[in-house]
Amino acid sequence: MRIPLDRESSTPLYQQIEQFIRREINSGSLPPETRLPATRQLAENLGVNRITVANAYAGLEAHGLVYTRLGSGTYVAHSLVGDQTDYDKSETIENWPSWQQKLWHSVYLPALQERNRLAAMVREPEDLLSFAGGVGAPELIPANDLRKALSDVLRRDNIDALGYGDRAGYPPLRATITHILADQGILTQADQILVTTGSQQALSLTASLLLRPGDCVLTESPTYPSMIDVFYSLGVKIMGIPVDDNGMQTEKLEEILTTEKPSLIYTTPTYQNPTGVTLSGPRRRQLLTLAAQYDIPILEDEFVGDLHYEGHSQPALKALDQGGRVIYSGTFSKMLMPGLRLGYLVADGPVYDRLVEWKNVTDLGTSDLIQRALEAYITVGRYQSHLHRAVRIYRQRRDIMLAALEKYMPLGCHWHTPHGGLFIWLQLPEGLSTNDLYPIALQEKVKYLAGAVCYPGKKSYRHMRLNFTMHPPQLIEEGVRRLAKATRKYMDTK
Ligand SMILES: Cc1ncc(COP(=O)(O)O)c(C=O)c1O
Repeated sequence: MRIPLDRESSTPLYQQIEQFIRREINSGSLPPETRLPATRQLAENLGVNRITVANAYAGLEAHGLVYTRLGSGTYVAHSLVGDQTDYDKSETIENWPSWQQKLWHSVYLPALQERNRLAAMVREPEDLLSFAGGVGAPELIPANDLRKALSDVLRRDNIDALGYGDRAGYPPLRATITHILADQGILTQADQILVTTGSQQALSLTASLLLRPGDCVLTESPTYPSMIDVFYSLGVKIMGIPVDDNGMQTEKLEEILTTEKPSLIYTTPTYQNPTGVTLSGPRRRQLLTLAAQYDIPILEDEFVGDLHYEGHSQPALKALDQGGRVIYSGTFSKMLMPGLRLGYLVADGPVYDRLVEWKNVTDLGTSDLIQRALEAYITVGRYQSHLHRAVRIYRQRRDIMLAALEKYMPLGCHWHTPHGGLFIWLQLPEGLSTNDLYPIALQEKVKYLAGAVCYPGKKSYRHMRLNFTMHPPQLIEEGVRRLAKATRKYMDTK
């Protein structure tokens, strides 16, 4: 084992050895049951005292990363202790230049950092069933069609496909998007569409164009965690409007607007992330009326609007918008595949031109090749037939998860039936926390998104977000059985 040691450093040699091996273990370079070199041998290799190596091994053992087999040596443990990188970093933070130290303390992305903290607490077992994701079924991804489309495009367009491309997006793809949107009641034109690198970019571009530090933004509470981080990174104040079975409680919004002057309302009105609820028709109209009355732009995040399983579907806010107040964001990630990183926004008026410029200075444009490949694949008819298939399969998976929850989960847990989208939002009984349940669930080899990260202000710890689209039926049932077992175990400790 070659370990770079800095004999001039103020960090003692045993700690340098310990930190190096810890990093190797956490990165997976030293898998469980790997035998570490004997202390004498490593000491000789490194030109240090044997006690130095023994101290390093003792430190690793104290953190549960290695164990000693009597008479045999020191081995990497099957540790349930998770990735320790943050611990490593905080230990050595004073070794970095001070601008780096400032960054370490100052960048605040609460949702992401809390997710990382939870993930670092416990190492994930290998055969983990995860309901934490936010995408569709991998087996529905038309990978072969995409491969063919890519090679057809390269043959057809040759070097034309390999330049920067149109800065608002590949025009034929923008035209196709207008047809897909027309089917959903949104009448627009290609020159109101900006293709972005995932809808995440559409959302963050709009937020950074419209907001300045100290501004106030209104969101649903709970909401999509990554947008909480986007808003925090811009230094704006987030006010959360509670959500019920009919979506954002716009009555409360009206109260707030009498005292606050928000610069933006961010909303996922249809099959919301994380709750799965949909904003009712009357509330949609009230939201638009209030936005007009108080002159506030609305950023509508329609990430799964067309994954509709039953009942009356609501028109997008953009479809009801008469006055250019709504900036609409859509994506191909959930319905087709996230790896294309293709999303788009629809905006009318001067804000559209500003957004195109903003996007241009940010990244000079989204991959033209990938846009052309998608355009070659995605006729409106194909999109529709892919959508129908996804809807049929996801509706069935939702029902299977609902039935499994009913069958296995302990009394006192609640959830509602989403009429579309990807998620079920489950609530534990009073006094319980899905953060505390999390490590027990991982021991039972099941994972979810702990709901507290979805609250911009006052948090509730009772919720978890469960994705029902990613796994086939038997795994959904098995995952819920594991979740119920973990919940019972946790409840027994209370
Ligand atoms: C509500 C919501 N909006 C937007 C996004 C961004 O997705 P993408 O950038 O892949 O389009 C996500 C991703 O999970 C999401 O859940």
